[in-house]
Amino acid sequence: MKKILITGSNGQLGNELRKLSANYPDCKFNFTDVNELDITNSDTLKLHFKANNYDFIINCAAYTAVDKAETETDKALLINSEAVKYLSEIALQYKIKLIHISTDYVFDGTSCLPYTEDIQVSPVSQYGITKLEGEKQIEKSGCDAIIIRTSWLYSSFGNNFVKTILKYSKEKPELKVVFDQIGTPTYAEDLASTILQIVKSNKFESGIYHYSNEGVCSWYDFALEIVNAKNINCKITPILTSEYPTPAKRPHYSVLNKNKIKSTFNIEILHWKDGLQRCLKEL
Ligand SMILES: NC(=O)c1ccc[n+]([C@@H]2O[C@H](COP(=O)([O-])OP(=O)(O)OC[C@H]3O[C@@H](n4cnc5c(N)ncnc54)[C@H](OP(=O)(O)O)[C@@H]3O)[C@@H](O)[C@H]2O)c1
Repeated sequence: MKKILITGSNGQLGNELRKLSANYPDCKFNFTDVNELDITNSDTLKLHFKANNYDFIINCAAYTAVDKAETETDKALLINSEAVKYLSEIALQYKIKLIHISTDYVFDGTSCLPYTEDIQVSPVSQYGITKLEGEKQIEKSGCDAIIIRTSWLYSSFGNNFVKTILKYSKEKPELKVVFDQIGTPTYAEDLASTILQIVKSNKFESGIYHYSNEGVCSWYDFALEIVNAKNINCKITPILTSEYPTPAKRPHYSVLNKNKIKSTFNIEILHWKDGLQRCLKEL
């Protein structure tokens, strides 16, 4: 029986893991969020791990408000980096395997080819910087860890682009959406399923891996697909990023190359439109 701690389990990914956990009767899950286990409190963490034996930590806890991170940088750094240091040191001490989630926003977006794991990182936002610091803390600790960088995460749980477009497209005749940021949406259920396959596989090869659904699109294409799939009568108009200024800069191109995760763990990845259809059915 594998014992697995999930942190930040009230978020999108954590909830998807909870949903799928019923399919893994040979694993014992402990789902926690900030109220049960605040990962920024190192004393609480020490006590928790002294009292509990785990084989895996899946760290879904994060500060994910990309724009707010520009001003709440200390808070973002505490959750995305300092707390990750605590977790990775504990993972090393108790020989627990750590699965941590990072982001495509560690890249500056100047590439025009899908990013492999070895391409130079250079985040352009505070959020991206704090997430990169978290990756470095893990690498510095020397614990057994898989870091999965993912992109454009959405789910039927929590707040995300899909739910925002659904809400506003029903209220307004037109929505303007940027078409010069290119990436790949990731249905959090598919990422959760991949994480659980890795846990199950007994093949834990530490390192950084990229994961998103297959395919490539802009936020405009993504929005159009959402309203078309739901037959919503709302015009989706493409605009430039410069016409929709945000506090945080985003990479213009952040498509991830997923060959490493696919070949290492023998994982099949579905197209983003497939993931979207399944998510829309849940909503
Ligand atoms: N969302 C995206 O588009 C995206 C893209 C690429 C990568 N990622 C990464 O994917 C991972 C999962 O993202 P997500 O969208 O599932 O995040 P999410 O929905 O924001 O969930 C994060 C969870 O962590 C909790 N949390 C915050 N501070 C905590 C603390 N100190 N201790 C314990 N829990 C804490 C949050 O609680 P509160 O809500 O109360 O703060 C929330 O329940 C994150 O590492 C994120 O950086 C996300």
